[in-house]
Amino acid sequence: MMAKLMLQLTLLALTNFSTLAKAHEPSPLQDFCVADFKSRVRVNGFACLDPKQVTADHFLFRGLHVRGNTSNPLGSFINRPTVAEIPGLNTLGISTVRADYASRGVVPPHRHPRASEILTVLEGTVLAGFVTSDPGNRLVSKVLQKGDVFVFPFGLIHFQENIGPGKAVTMAFLSSQNPGVIAIANAIFGSNPPINDHVLAKAFQVDKSVVNKLQAPYN
Ligand SMILES: *[C@@H]1O[C@H](CO)[C@@H](O)[C@H](O)[C@H]1NC(C)=O
Repeated sequence: MMAKLMLQLTLLALTNFSTLAKAHEPSPLQDFCVADFKSRVRVNGFACLDPKQVTADHFLFRGLHVRGNTSNPLGSFINRPTVAEIPGLNTLGISTVRADYASRGVVPPHRHPRASEILTVLEGTVLAGFVTSDPGNRLVSKVLQKGDVFVFPFGLIHFQENIGPGKAVTMAFLSSQNPGVIAIANAIFGSNPPINDHVLAKAFQVDKSVVNKLQAPYN
């Protein structure tokens, strides 16, 4: 009886594990697979460069200490080296991002279609939050100080704001070599070609004139 239960639990655990393993980037089957951008082979990710041609530079990116220019409407700057900048990230399922914020600067609501994110504050005071899908639309947020770490779960909409009087800096790590970014406002109001304004008027329960105003910055 007990043995049968244990077997069932083990099978259940194994089933869950294999599902999880398939849901994200697969485990590497060799030490590394440095991206060969010149290869004509199309695979999920990039083909591997001949390991004999691989050098330390394939694993290197310099410049994340440099402050970004936050003189823009959002008051923020993002520097995110992914596999395109660090070919050695290919197949490894990780990447990194630095964000700079002016006071009240915002990284607007966005999602990464292929990654979870873990963020730490190096400087300043940052409000960070994400919205859940189940239960629907619950805001989970926290004010973070230097050294605090916050997690944005896989694919969920999240944002950051520097709520302090001075500059802020965050570093984050993402569980994909190519996490992707969908900025919500840009995707909804700035798509090319635009989403029909009657669709957006109904979705947001506002007049078309309001929709047109929201679309204007992207025209
Ligand atoms: C920062 O960006 C603004 C707007 O594009 C530009 O006018 C300014 O010269 C930039 N500052 C630096 C230090 O590059």
